[in-house]
Amino acid sequence: MKRHAQVVGWGKYVPAKVLTNEDLARLVDTSDQWIRERTGISERRVAAPRETTATMAIQAAQEALKMADVNPARLDLIIVATATPDYAFPSVACLVQDALGASRAGAFDLAAGCSGFVYALATAAQFIQTGAYDTIMVIGAETLSRIVDWTDRNTCVLFGDGAGAVLLRPNADGGGLLSFVLGADGSGADLLILPGGGSKHPASLSTVEERLHYVKMDGREVFRFAVNVMGKAAVQAIKAANLGLGSVDLLIPHQANLRIIQSAAKFLKLPPEKVFVNLEKYGNTSAASIPIALCEAIENGRVKPGDHLVLVGFGAGLTWAAAVLKWGPVAAPVPVPWWKTAWHRMRGRLYAFRSALIRLWRRVDALLGGGREPG
Ligand code: UT7
Repeated sequence: MKRHAQVVGWGKYVPAKVLTNEDLARLVDTSDQWIRERTGISERRVAAPRETTATMAIQAAQEALKMADVNPARLDLIIVATATPDYAFPSVACLVQDALGASRAGAFDLAAGCSGFVYALATAAQFIQTGAYDTIMVIGAETLSRIVDWTDRNTCVLFGDGAGAVLLRPNADGGGLLSFVLGADGSGADLLILPGGGSKHPASLSTVEERLHYVKMDGREVFRFAVNVMGKAAVQAIKAANLGLGSVDLLIPHQANLRIIQSAAKFLKLPPEKVFVNLEKYGNTSAASIPIALCEAIENGRVKPGDHLVLVGFGAGLTWAAAVLKWGPVAAPVPVPWWKTAWHRMRGRLYAFRSALIRLWRRVDALLGGGREPG
């Protein structure tokens, strides 16, 4: 029997600070009416100065571990999908690994724009299907507010910050990730791009003056691409899972624009009650949007055991990705007893302390001459 990767835990984190359309209308020449009508967004969350992609990813991952009651030392692998890492290197995944105390886990980031979470899910599933690994954390996390040009009305009204995580374990009863489709068309690389800070335009006075460290987007072209690709990718994934359109219980699309979501739903002949939308609250959180939406769909009782969920996204690259998940027996958040919450919190503090001790020991060891070549 094939080992499918099944979601056994999930968690999300969104910053407390809410930025409304009215707030934005005080920053740039826009209006609540325009943003709602053209995108469906009412408000978005913005990270506090001390919050980063890693801090939000850690919170979401801790939530997923707590609800599945899994010890972080059991994690084999951590994959973080993000376009806004804390640093070019080290990866966000390594910062998460350290904070969780996932001492046995490998860790890496994956860059596929807003399609990143589905790419990461498909990647993680391969390790589980082959039997190489049993317990994998997949996270989508973004701090887009740090790369958005707050003077550009074409982009600043769209994006928000947040993180979502799922914990995967093997399942042999036919549930789990049934299929996926990954696609890319790099000829559209310039349509959605952060030009500055990489090897092409390393950070310099002129890249800052030319505002190259902010998102540049051709919204109309990305819109056309998205409308074209979303429904088709979803259909391919549904067919690859040997299912028909009628078997879809819930579509969880990338939350970029309500008009794009509606056109995908129309292509798939899905009524509104089979499509999950929460972009009015968070805007487009890129790689975090699908896992945050999945968490909220579960919280809102929209996911039942045995349901077929279709996840579909598109984004920078250009990339697209779709997957079919058959939901397992754990459909609703299981109430976590207070002592388990306290234990998970204390364990988090212990791991932070352990990390500080390892750093200290590394310094002491260097002073004592540890690791020097003999002779
Ligand atoms: O995860 C992938 C990320 N990217 C996307 O998903 C973006 C996909 N694209 C879109 O969602 C839409 O193209 C936008 C929401 C970005 C723009 O909507 P649109 O209906 O395609 O508008 P448009 O670009 O055709 O612009 C229409 C007008 C323009 O004015 P003119 O040239 O007709 O006078 C824009 O300058 O709307 C203007 N406009 C705005 N007006 C008020 C553009 N942004 C704004 C704004 N407020 N924030």
